Formats: sequence, structure tokens, C-alpha cells
Amino acid sequence: MVAEPLLIVEGLRVAYGGIQAVRGITFHINPGEMVALIGANGAGKTSTLKALSRMLDPVGGSIRYQGQEIVKLPPHRLVREGIALVPEGRGVFPRLTIAENLAMGAFTRDDKADIAADLEHVYGLFPRLKEREKQLAGTLSGGEQQMLAIGRALMSRPKLLLLDEPSMGLAPIMVQKIFEVIRMVAAEGMTILLIEQNARLALESSQRGYVMESGEITLTDEASSLLHNPKVREAYLGE
Ligand SMILES: Nc1ncnc2c1ncn2[C@@H]1O[C@H](COP(=O)(O)OP(=O)(O)OP(=O)(O)O)[C@@H](O)[C@H]1O
Ligand SMILES: [Mg+2]
Repeated sequence: MVAEPLLIVEGLRVAYGGIQAVRGITFHINPGEMVALIGANGAGKTSTLKALSRMLDPVGGSIRYQGQEIVKLPPHRLVREGIALVPEGRGVFPRLTIAENLAMGAFTRDDKADIAADLEHVYGLFPRLKEREKQLAGTLSGGEQQMLAIGRALMSRPKLLLLDEPSMGLAPIMVQKIFEVIRMVAAEGMTILLIEQNARLALESSQRGYVMESGEITLTDEASSLLHNPKVREAYLGE
């Protein structure tokens, strides 16, 4: 007995004026799964995520989340529904401290005791954030900002976490750290859509993967199979 997918995307299309960035893609994510969406620059990964997080209106298709159509849901409702986005480029509030940024992540909640517990949990995942609690986010390193962006998303207690290129622009050691935490969060049962250009890392961390090329999904399989797929190895793993 397989559980109903948490997210089912069907025929999703995104266009900017006349340019079609996403050309009718279909995929799903099961509860508790980490799924990787990999692809080259301009493949349409971020556009897909923007449609999912309702930052833009798709020109076609359906997005069903927990059995409910959300393709027209206003963006501010998403966090309440349990969908949290960690955007490309992190999007932390530079003039707020780490603690204030994390508090912003919980703005839709009023369960004070649970918020406090979640804050401790985030500080447990990222001790470096705890050490720098009062530091302004704008003065943090790129890696620390990425930690903060993930921590802030977790503060909304999401059911579905959308990550756009968490490794982008970071030194290898920091990438390892960030991914260690992403894997821990996944192991706790979080459902995650991971968008990455670092295909190897993404597939090594995920259960399943989708390959996106020029706005279309051209390949999907178990992540371990994709890692051994000659096409993937040649195009995305630099072999
Ligand atoms: N605001 C925009 N206006 C016009 N075209 C856009 C806009 N945003 C993205 N595009 C185009 O849509 C296509 C898909 O872009 P998208 O950012 O989704 O790709 P991506 O897979 O996330 O790439 P990357 O790996 O570089 O982040 C590209 O051709 C891009 O130029
Ligand atoms: Mg992108």
C-alpha cells in the first residue's frame, strides 16, 4: 500500500511573455521523500519552483498538494498550508539579526511553546547560528546565510520544503555541511524537493530524481539508478 503523493504536478507550464520556460512537466513527491530535480542552466528548475511556491502564475497545468488544487492559491496561504521555499540566493532579511530572521519564519504560528522548541531544534542543526544569534544577517557569510534561510523555512514547520540550489556559490566544505543538515532534516521525515546543479550531491542525497532539459522532464528514476545512467553521467556528472 503506497501512500498518496503529497504533491502531484501535472502538465505544468510557465512562460515569460512568449518564452516558454517550463513546457508541460509532470512529477510527484511522496510523503517523506527527498526528490531531486536536476538540470543545466536555464532548464526551467527555478521557474518550476516559483510556480509551486506561487511566486508566479503558471500558464497551464495543475498543482495538487494534499489532494487539493493549489495552482491558484495566493502565495501568502502557502506557508500556512505547510509549503516553505528556500529561494535561490537565500533571501534572508539583511538588516535583521539571525534570531529575528528565524522569528519571521514562524510568523504564521501562535503556538509559542512549539516555536521555542523549533528554535532550539534549528540551533541544534546549525550551532553556528546560535553562536551568532544577534548578528545581522547581511553580515553573514554565504554559507551562514544559507543555513539561516533553511532554518527560517524550518521555523514555519513545513510539510514540504522546497530548496533552490542550496550549494550555489559555496565552498566545498560548506556545501558538505549544508547537505549534512539537509540529510538530517530528511531523515526526520521531512518531504523535500531539492533543486541542484550539483547533480551528484543531489542524487546521492535523494531517493528519486527528475532530469529537466529545456523546460521538459526527460528522465526520471530512482536516484541510485540515475547516478549510474550513462546519459546522466555524461551530461551532469562530468564523466
Ligand atoms: N523573469 C524572467 N523573464 C524572462 N525570462 C526568464 C525569467 N526568468 C527565467 N527566464 C528564462 O526561463 C528559462 C528558465 O529559467 P530558470 O531560471 O527557470 O532556469 P534554471 O533551471 O533555474 O537555471 P539555473 O540553473 O541557471 O538557475 C531561461 O531561459 C531563462 O532565461
Ligand atoms: Mg535556477
